[in-house]
Amino acid sequence: MQEGLPFSEVELILFGSTVIILLLAGLIIFSLFIHQKRKYRYLQDKSQLKNNFDRELLRSQLEIQSQAFESISRELHDNVGTLISIAIVHLQSLEVTLQEAEKNTVRAADGLLSEAMGTLRDISKSIHPENISRLGWQDSFIAELDRICKTKLFTVAHSIEGDPIDIELDKQVIIFRIIQETLNNIVKHSNGSHIDARICFSDRHVVITIADDGRGLNRTLIELMESGSGVRNMFARAAMLPAVLTIKPGNTSGTVVELSYHEPAMELQKI
Ligand SMILES: Nc1ncnc2c1ncn2[C@@H]1O[C@H](COP(=O)(O)OP(=O)(O)OP(=O)(O)O)[C@@H](O)[C@H]1O
Ligand SMILES: [Mg+2]
Repeated sequence: MQEGLPFSEVELILFGSTVIILLLAGLIIFSLFIHQKRKYRYLQDKSQLKNNFDRELLRSQLEIQSQAFESISRELHDNVGTLISIAIVHLQSLEVTLQEAEKNTVRAADGLLSEAMGTLRDISKSIHPENISRLGWQDSFIAELDRICKTKLFTVAHSIEGDPIDIELDKQVIIFRIIQETLNNIVKHSNGSHIDARICFSDRHVVITIADDGRGLNRTLIELMESGSGVRNMFARAAMLPAVLTIKPGNTSGTVVELSYHEPAMELQKI
């Protein structure tokens, strides 16, 4: 061993190899880190792409649906409406030539046709997207409740709390479609007799609650979504707003549907 040197050769080799091993380990950890980061970014981009794709798909589906609503509304109003009007005119002209007993039958038929005409006009108005934009979601909602009330199948109570907030027109149509499906489902499935609707505004927030006193839900939400397209579309539309939608059993009976929406501030909307 040489005198005067602070490290022996073995110590230098050990030190050198430790430094190399540490450098190699660092390099491996660094490249693993970079790899993980790239993988994470790739997965993030992929899920972003999928979300964009789903959103676009939904947007085009809703657009097609909106056009379908528009053309059904026009057909109902222009074609079926005109046919019923002509039938009413024919009946009225026939009435003059009939005996009193027959006149009563014709008048009854006339009354029924006029009622059908009124209902048809209400339906045609309620499904037309332009009408929803013109009236706004709140008045369209109340008109829909009135329409249900007229059928005498349900009694309806509604209340509004707080100061209404301005909501973008496109979003108003989406909100109304969710409300419309909720009401359709109540009429179709609930077997109840009363609807309680509440609108509660606060700040830039609105909570819409629609409750029925019917038989309630007898399946899980997943099962409901698989059984028809209505509930599934309601959730898809809520995601588009975005808003929080809950469908749950009522306190004592029936079903409660709650939609909670926060209108973003103007600057955020432009982003
Ligand atoms: N208010 C309610 N009371 C009781 N059951 C309900 C209520 N709303 C929804 N449901 C249940 O949820 C199921 C799914 O509803 P959904 O709207 O998805 O389908 P649908 O009304 O049967 O058909 P559509 O696709 O034409 O809307 C219904 O079949 C019904 O059993
Ligand atoms: Mg439905």
